[in-house]
Amino acid sequence: MADTIDVLIPEKQIDARIRELAKQIDADYAGKSVTLLTTLKGACFFSCELAKCLTIPVFMEYIQAASYEGTSSTGTVTMMLDVPDTAVAGKHVIIVEDVIDTGRTLAAVKDLMQTRNPASLAVCSLLDKHECRVVPFEGDYVGFTIGNDFVVGYGLDWDQKYRNLPYIGIVR
Ligand code: HPA
Ligand code: MG
Repeated sequence: MADTIDVLIPEKQIDARIRELAKQIDADYAGKSVTLLTTLKGACFFSCELAKCLTIPVFMEYIQAASYEGTSSTGTVTMMLDVPDTAVAGKHVIIVEDVIDTGRTLAAVKDLMQTRNPASLAVCSLLDKHECRVVPFEGDYVGFTIGNDFVVGYGLDWDQKYRNLPYIGIVR
């Protein structure tokens, strides 16, 4: 039987919030260009919509990170897909994420990218599950702060399903 999915954030609300975030980024980076460093696969839909709303020059880059929770606070991060140092060095980089939850992977990815000497480094996430944080981590641009329900849609999956839903929903 098909899963029941309740709408948590409707498409129109997501679109409106992305336009607001883009406006803020346009203002913060006025006169500069930005590199959207998108984390696969979940942040793809979000970063494409965000890029379309930006008026400053945009470069698109993609990474995929897997983290394993070891004894260190950030665990270790393995880059399944990475960019060359030249994509980051001297650039205004914004890591684009679908959801910040424990903060572990993102903290490790951010640390790694910082070692490559960007002109600036920020994090923009569609969702923030602040209650789930294990390491201290704050996003610079956050679409929506939500509770710890498991959500799908707008790039987020449940066992690789439901990424293509145009809204954020909760599987019942
Ligand atoms: N949905 C999908 N992927 C996730 C979530 C979620 O709620 N939290 C962390 N990764
Ligand atoms: Mg993700």
